[in-house]
Formats: sequence, C-alpha cells, structure tokens
Amino acid sequence: MSSPDFPATLDPDRIPAHVAIIMDGNGRWARAQGKDRLYGHWQGYRTLKQIVYAADEIGIRYLTVYGFSSENWRRPAEEVEGLMRLMLEAMRAEIEELMQNGIRVRVLGRLSQLPSDLRREFSDAMERTRENTRLTFNLAINYGGRAEIVDAVRHLAKDLLEGRLSPESIEEETLSARLYAPDIPDPDLLIRTAGEMRLSNFLLWETAYAEIWVTPTPWPAFTRDHLLTAIADYQRRTRKFGAVVEEDDLS
Ligand code: FPP
Repeated sequence: MSSPDFPATLDPDRIPAHVAIIMDGNGRWARAQGKDRLYGHWQGYRTLKQIVYAADEIGIRYLTVYGFSSENWRRPAEEVEGLMRLMLEAMRAEIEELMQNGIRVRVLGRLSQLPSDLRREFSDAMERTRENTRLTFNLAINYGGRAEIVDAVRHLAKDLLEGRLSPESIEEETLSARLYAPDIPDPDLLIRTAGEMRLSNFLLWETAYAEIWVTPTPWPAFTRDHLLTAIADYQRRTRKFGAVVEEDDLS
C-alpha cells in the first residue's frame, strides 16, 4: 500500500530494494561555478542528505554511495584532508537526525587506514544506529571493489588453511559471505552522475546483475526528481539475470 503522497510515476510494488550511487562531478560542478573543488564536495553532501531521506520515503531499503575510493588518496593533500574533515563534520552533524528517522548507518571499506577521529565517529554511528529498521545507508569509504574481493579471499584462505573449508566446498556464496556487507542484497539499480560510463572499481562483485542508469547531471545538481526518473526507468526494464524472457512476458 502506498501513502497518498507516494510519487504517482512509480509502481510501489517494484521499488528497487537496493540502490547504489557513484556520486561524480563535484569538481566539475564547482569549477563551472567558479569555486574550488571542496565547495563542490560540500554541495555534494547537501545533495546526499536530500537523497538519503528521499530514498527512505519512497521505500528503498538499502542505499550505498561511493564516498571515497581507495584511489582517491592520489588527489592533492588539501582535497583529501578537506574530504576527511567534511565526512567527520557531516557525521557529527547528522547523527541525531539519522537516529530520529530510524536510518541505519554502515561504513564499508578498509577503515583502518582512515584518520582515527573519523574512524571513531564512523564506529559510533554504526553502533548507535545498529538496531534502526528503516533505510540502511551504506557509505563506501576507502573502498575499492578489487580490494573488497582480495579481503574476502584472504579471509577465505585463512578458513581454508585452518581447516574450516575445503577447496571443493567453495561456491559463489562462500566468497560473497566474506564481503564487507554479506547480509545486504546485491544492488538492483546503479546510478552514476556526471555522465561517465564506467564502474570505477565500485561494488564489482555485487553489481553483476544491477541495472545501470547514467545521467549527465553532476552530483551537486542531482535532485529527488532525478532519483524518481531513474527508478521509473528501472521499472520499465526487464531483468533477465541471464535467462531468456519470452515476448509474452514483456508487458
Ligand atoms: C566525485 O566527484 C566525488 C567524490 C570523490 C567525493 C564524494 C563525496 C561527497 C559527495 C561528499 C559526501 C559526504 C559524505 C558525508 C560521504 P569528483 O571530485 O571526482 O568530480 P569531478 O569528476 O568533476 O572532478
């Protein structure tokens, strides 16, 4: 059942359970405004806040965003430090409202390499929101898709060496159970802003069957309406998961 203000353009029974977003274009957007890159990231944070609550309101269960990739350390030190400070301040500023709205926060990535104050803030947020039951908001930070698979393989190799696994018993599930968030279903829809048509090392394993939607709009200019358009487009697609779909089913 949908509420009276549920978007009329969407089918409430086919809302993607998990939406993942590559939030790209902060720098280009800022440059076009004659501002520095960090200004773009701060505006990107404002967009992210709108999208978290919009996603929850339309019934998305999981939202995963690429906040800082393992390759982003190669940016100028000033930008990296600015992004770390932004994440720290954003987490501190948002935690109460996230709690009040029942949002569960998870942070995925190699967190041990982050500054200790940020790591502590993330751990506290995860701990405080652990029992929340509305949207699960996953922040991928110091995240790389290949690194995630490597970490899962290391875990698996340890279990093998210590006799908890045999080579013959290894299936896809054996590896997926060792990824950063094994309890979360794979993304149904992957959105990328600012027009590039690539995965950029994001959720490589998990996006095997995700529908991809790319918009030229840079992340700071992305709105709830763009999210609704992406979902409406997703709802018009036929997901095959490698199978044949008969013409009759293409209604
Ligand atoms: C890509 O734009 C964006 C990032 C590397 C950072 C994403 C971070 C935010 C949106 C702020 C999020 C806030 C929190 C709390 C996680 P880009 O800089 O690569 O843009 P460009 O391709 O135009 O240079």
